[in-house]
Amino acid sequence: MIQNNLEKYTIQLPKKLNFVLKKIDSNSNGIVFITNLENKLIGSLSDGDIRRGMMKNQVTKYVNINSKYINKKPFFLNYNSDVKKILSYLESKKNKKKYKCIPLVDNKKVIQDISTIESLRKYPIINLKIDNSEINNVIDAMKSGWISSAGSFVSQFEENFSKYLGGGYSITTTSGTTALELALKSLQIGLGDEVILPNLSFAASINSIINVGAKPVVVDVNPKTWTIDCNRILEKISSKTKAIMPVHIYGQPCEMDKIKKIAKSKNIYIVEDAAEALGATYKNAKIGLHGDCSCFSFYANKTITTGEGGMVVFKKKKYFKLANQIKNHGMSRKKFYFHETVGSNYRMTNIQAAIGISQLKKIKSLILSRRRIFQYYNKRLRKFNYINLLPENNWSTNSYWLYTILIKNLGTKKREKLIKNLLKKGIETRPAFYPFNSMNIYKKYCSGSYKFSEKIANNSISLPSTSISHYDQDLIIDILIKEINKLI
Ligand SMILES: Cc1ncc(COP(=O)(O)O)c(C=O)c1O
Repeated sequence: MIQNNLEKYTIQLPKKLNFVLKKIDSNSNGIVFITNLENKLIGSLSDGDIRRGMMKNQVTKYVNINSKYINKKPFFLNYNSDVKKILSYLESKKNKKKYKCIPLVDNKKVIQDISTIESLRKYPIINLKIDNSEINNVIDAMKSGWISSAGSFVSQFEENFSKYLGGGYSITTTSGTTALELALKSLQIGLGDEVILPNLSFAASINSIINVGAKPVVVDVNPKTWTIDCNRILEKISSKTKAIMPVHIYGQPCEMDKIKKIAKSKNIYIVEDAAEALGATYKNAKIGLHGDCSCFSFYANKTITTGEGGMVVFKKKKYFKLANQIKNHGMSRKKFYFHETVGSNYRMTNIQAAIGISQLKKIKSLILSRRRIFQYYNKRLRKFNYINLLPENNWSTNSYWLYTILIKNLGTKKREKLIKNLLKKGIETRPAFYPFNSMNIYKKYCSGSYKFSEKIANNSISLPSTSISHYDQDLIIDILIKEINKLI
């Protein structure tokens, strides 16, 4: 969620009249909304209400919930209302009454946002949807008493995940980052080993390699795919190379056939960083089973979430067995408190897995709704010659995680300005990941040219990618184009 202006518009009673008047004055719309302790909307008070109350001698030094001049039935709309509907009340074209400002509430009547003509509603980059199915599963997990990692939801989630991918041995972890670390440790990659990865990714990819004691070797990306440049991999392979870590960045599948060919010829592993790519496909097969193992993230902004959480999926049972032991401090499965390997605690809780099971059931519709949003952005933004869309090809489909565009020659300074200006209009965006070679801590792992990853990283932004209608998207696009044109 993005921070909104609720502070200026909401109040809990009782309060001194002077305080209420100051608040009404601070938002320049002449109204405050009254909430209870759970932030539910229970009334409104405008400067007009106070004036009328004064004329009837109802106003005293304190305003409390029983004050007669309070409006106990304020107008509100649901937070998920289409902006067209919101506008029809703010502009009063269709509806009888015109409102200057409308609270947008959730199903429990808790205020989520305030809509005014200047700022219709906020568009968070990702709008998480949790409903009763997740909540009921969590209640079941709590009631079962199994709230740590022992409990049937964990193994059920792992089984369901493998079924969804179409095979493999799945293991839950505490995050996508620990999934990567566990994968590397289970393949016995560590001190003295090298792992090749692309310059364009979230820090978790490179950090996981460093955290297991191995050395990351960073290569540029291919501008046609935004993913690791397969021609550059061969140049960087040495006798110490143990694995390639292809990252399916922004849900874009890597060229797996080429990577597989290299890995086979050099006898090295493939550890897929698929944190952003759940549901993406490569040559009609889901991402997740093309390498020796793949790692997913269930952070709140991902395709499905467990709050925090991750999954490693192995192709071979022997690594799966070792990983299961490492994630539980290396403890023997036969002898309690007897440790056979040096492990750690990477265990997901039963409560998280309960959420995951419910989320996984909805994955098809979650991806479809994101795809609808991606395709509409593409349709409208394709015609601007200063915008490059995420690459498309006929051998893969994206996971539709985060809608990202490259604005030609924008540069990081103008991009920062663009992000700020869009946020002022209620549109939350994100810069692309900074390339590893631009950060001091990673420079020692980088050599050679990184011109393509730098170009993508320095000129790209991600737009709101979930739970928006085409009408909302039109509004976002119109503002985006206007703001870009002010800068380029
Ligand atoms: C490419 C990539 N790898 C790894 C991760 C790490 O996942 P987590 O945040 O669950 O640790 C992320 C998370 O955003 C990611 O984008």
